[in-house]
Amino acid sequence: MPINVHREVSVDAIEEQNRIAESLWPRLRERFHTQNKNPLAMVHTFGCQQNVADGEKLKGILAQMGFSFTDSPEQADLILFNTCAIRENAETKVFGNIGNLKQLKAVKPALLIGICGCMTEQPHVVEKLKKSYPYVGFVFGSHSAYRLPSLIQSYLDEGKRVFRVAPDDGCVAEGIPALREEGVKAWLPIMYGCDNFCSYCVVPYVRGRERSRRPERILEEFKELVQAGYKDITLLGQNVNSYGKGLEEGTDFATLLERLNAVEGDFRIRFMTSHPKDCSHRLIDTIAKCEKVCNHIHLPVQSGSSRILREMNRNYDRESYLELVRYAREKIPDVTLTSDIIVGFPGETYEEFRETLSLLEEVKYISLYTFIFSPRLGTRAASLPDPVSGEEKGRWFRELLALQDEIGLEQMRPYIGQTVRVLAEDWGKAGEGLLQGRTESNLIVEFPGPPSLAGQFVRVKVESVKKWALLGNLA
Ligand code: SAH
Ligand code: SF4
Ligand code: F3S
Repeated sequence: MPINVHREVSVDAIEEQNRIAESLWPRLRERFHTQNKNPLAMVHTFGCQQNVADGEKLKGILAQMGFSFTDSPEQADLILFNTCAIRENAETKVFGNIGNLKQLKAVKPALLIGICGCMTEQPHVVEKLKKSYPYVGFVFGSHSAYRLPSLIQSYLDEGKRVFRVAPDDGCVAEGIPALREEGVKAWLPIMYGCDNFCSYCVVPYVRGRERSRRPERILEEFKELVQAGYKDITLLGQNVNSYGKGLEEGTDFATLLERLNAVEGDFRIRFMTSHPKDCSHRLIDTIAKCEKVCNHIHLPVQSGSSRILREMNRNYDRESYLELVRYAREKIPDVTLTSDIIVGFPGETYEEFRETLSLLEEVKYISLYTFIFSPRLGTRAASLPDPVSGEEKGRWFRELLALQDEIGLEQMRPYIGQTVRVLAEDWGKAGEGLLQGRTESNLIVEFPGPPSLAGQFVRVKVESVKKWALLGNLA
């Protein structure tokens, strides 16, 4: 029997939540005195795309309860912060935002305030919310998100604060309606949690053990997205390359990509994040041969020093990473690469940091997500001696950014004079009269054109480049 089958939340449990959601509708209208219109919810998501995808489901559940949505806290009847714990500044930002709600709750006592997501899976955060933020009504972790209707129900019934931070139950909740942003881009989670325990990272503690969705579920949702007109679909997981562990024999990420690539339609498939330790040659071959899978790989290296990579528990070294990059460039000649880098891991020396710089020069990423190490409670790296000052790390960080700016521009210049295929995404975002879109290789392109082109594939002749973007005109 496939192991994962019993890990899905039962259909009955999901249906019960649907029933509760619908039964809450009249009660909520009464509470907020909105008899003739829907009450308003504000869902504010922090953190990564996984969280964004969770936020879309939370919105879907709130819509079942009869909520419409707003971005304004002053107008909202319910405010939900979907939080991130990845670095200290992420948490500080959330606490700042929660603090700002005190006044609002004072003038609007019916306001419902909820906190969910990764921060709430940490006991010290729950303690702080209990003690210092009494106006927060309900707190729940991502494992309990599908129970939002019953959490709100018990808050309304009992008038007591609700804390539902269940330990990881290893379950996948299927059949929750996601309320996605309109447009061309859609996020599609294929797995949850993480088993890698990189020594600096809080994700395995707050997201629990890795579990994959069944391929039929993914395929079904994927087809719905294509039907609904989404043209740029990103498959999400903390380590998509290990997709399928615990499912039927033969279910792996390469096979999943092949199945999705075979779906009819004019769309692109992206994925993130691809962990170098599990990125096989077979996977690269699959990306090369699947024409709808984009020729861009986000392959976070974190550091160019093999000693630091060992300390980080990444399970690859500089050489094997570079070998992988060489193989990808050989099989997919126009592949572009992006990466995540951590500067100032505990004990990193300036010489080791320079190995990261030399790796950047060798790999030539088109862009990077860069972070200064932030100690996370409970992780191994947080207890390591960390002698380099924050100031010094700041200097290294700026050195890294300056180098990447040069490398990024150097990667983009050869496009001048070329015509590229672009999926136009937004009109007016990059400036009056300008469309913004991306190439298959994930380069941002800005060009003048009418709003009617948003959502379409167009050809653009590149005239010049700036930091982050190619500039051109419709060809
Ligand atoms: N699963 C992905 C990463 C998800 S977290 C992967 O393994 O590649 C996104 C990025 O945040 C990480 O790649 C890392 O660069 C950064 N990060 C994670 N924990 C951090 C910490 N404690 N301090 C600084 N950066 C961190
Ligand atoms: Fe964190 Fe490592 Fe898991 Fe990525 S693979 S989420 S960095 S523990
Ligand atoms: Fe943050 Fe949780 Fe994502 S910690 S980065 S929101 S998995």
